[in-house]
Amino acid sequence: MSIQTENIQALVERRATARLGGGEKRIEAQHNKGKRTARERLALLLDEGSFEEFDMFVRHRCTNFGMDASHTDGDGVVTGRGTIDGRIVYVFAQDFTVNGGSLSKTMSEKICKVMDMAVRSGAPLIGLNDSGGARIQEGIDALAGYGEIFERNILASGVIPQISGIFGPCAGGAVYSPALTDFTLMVKNTSYMYLTGPAVVKQVTGEEVSHEELGGASVHATKSGVAHFAAETEEEGIARIKELLSYLPQNNLETAPEVPTTDPVSRCDDSLNEIIPDNANKSYDMYGVIRSIVDDGKFLEVHADYAKNLIVGFARMNGQSVGVVANQPGVLAGVLDVNASRKGARFVRFCDAFNIPLVTLVDVPGFLCGTQQEYGAIITNGAKLLYAYGEATVPKVTVTLRKSFGGAHIVMSCKQLRGDVNYAWPSASIAVMGAEGAVDVLYASETPEAKAEKIEEYNRLFCNPYQAAEKGYIEDVIEPRNTRFRVIRALESLRGKRQEVPAKKHDNLPL
Ligand code: HXC
Repeated sequence: MSIQTENIQALVERRATARLGGGEKRIEAQHNKGKRTARERLALLLDEGSFEEFDMFVRHRCTNFGMDASHTDGDGVVTGRGTIDGRIVYVFAQDFTVNGGSLSKTMSEKICKVMDMAVRSGAPLIGLNDSGGARIQEGIDALAGYGEIFERNILASGVIPQISGIFGPCAGGAVYSPALTDFTLMVKNTSYMYLTGPAVVKQVTGEEVSHEELGGASVHATKSGVAHFAAETEEEGIARIKELLSYLPQNNLETAPEVPTTDPVSRCDDSLNEIIPDNANKSYDMYGVIRSIVDDGKFLEVHADYAKNLIVGFARMNGQSVGVVANQPGVLAGVLDVNASRKGARFVRFCDAFNIPLVTLVDVPGFLCGTQQEYGAIITNGAKLLYAYGEATVPKVTVTLRKSFGGAHIVMSCKQLRGDVNYAWPSASIAVMGAEGAVDVLYASETPEAKAEKIEEYNRLFCNPYQAAEKGYIEDVIEPRNTRFRVIRALESLRGKRQEVPAKKHDNLPL
């Protein structure tokens, strides 16, 4: 065998060993927990044969606690570049089979390298997390590693899309990297995120709680809103990440890819003419409205199980990616509360940062009142959504379906917040408040009969779209069946939109 052949043979063998990570026993243990390895996840995520791995031979430099005798090529994270549907992405996947995927200084250097490359080449970053946190043997070096990752998350924010998949433990300060990224996806029953685990919680507060109850996917997708998506399986989670990516541009200087559709632009839907119930207190299916107007009825909902009174997600209209924001009359009558405001604001700001036009469907009776909301800072949180819409410079097309009352009317992409094209259905009521509330204020001491008369008068005067149309606060009152066509035509007319905000170091969003 020639020396060259021997060299190549050695490389092949070293690669094969590196690919085994922590070894076959630990891979088996990973499988037994219902989890895939880092490499198996990347194989599912990336186009076949597209993965180019970096730093496969990087080893940690720690000598504490006998670590100098224990080295694994790659050091617990697989990093590199690949494509998804032919588009470049940069990736890292923590390998739990190597020291529990714990973060060493060298692991952080590997992650930072792909983060830097992603920003430099204007491509999305996807991180698959499965880690026991800071590598305990490395002490402060591991903490420094986290700090370096967080700083890059921050600098990349609004420049390239950053997506975090949580496929195992993600605890302690480690949770802040996913929290700094644009979207977090968790897998039910096998992933969890929390600052301190159940044992510490019991020690500190006496509360007994399981991993899943404290920081499982269901909790973060429904109660805290930390997770934007909760998948049943790793396979489903990876499919969701790919789907999400298809709606996003590569970076903030590009637009999302167009996906040609056979769904006709002028497709009308007669059922929309009948969808609003005669009784203003009855709800209807807002998802039905969304699916009826977008291409092929396809809608990728974000935060589907959190603050369900506001629906947000991605769709396409005539092939163009759009962010849809819609009040949901079926949940809390569609009011805006603390959680819905935060959810909406984050989504609107993401779309604005990445050139994704906003389509807003309004049916909102107002903000939720009461001590719980006031103590929860509905003022500051409501202002976040207001702020997000007001500063957004992407095309903004708004359709008011029914109620649009008071402050909530302003917040939901009204004309004065630089809404570009605002339409209303004939069923719309654009007013300071609902009739009953208004009459109770103005005619508190009147008899019920007199109040009923005033309610009728108020309804006639204000509970329609024409006051707003007469004053030019909306562009037109449209027939519901034509909504798809009218919204698409508005979006097409706005393709060349250019709008600026005054130069500043950065804004001061009411956090
Ligand atoms: C070094 C670690 C490790 C860590 C796990 N391992 N966590 N090694 N540093 N942080 C190792 C284990 O020793 C074991 O090695 C292997 O990984 C698998 O771990 P197991 O415990 O056998 O797995 P499992 O039973 O599934 O439990 C997983 C776990 C548990 C729940 C994550 O390992 C755990 O509680 N780890 C410690 C978590 C933690 O406290 N981390 C520090 C948080 S503070 P062998 O050789 O046996 O396979 C932090 C600060 C960050 O992260 C601050 C950022 C700003």
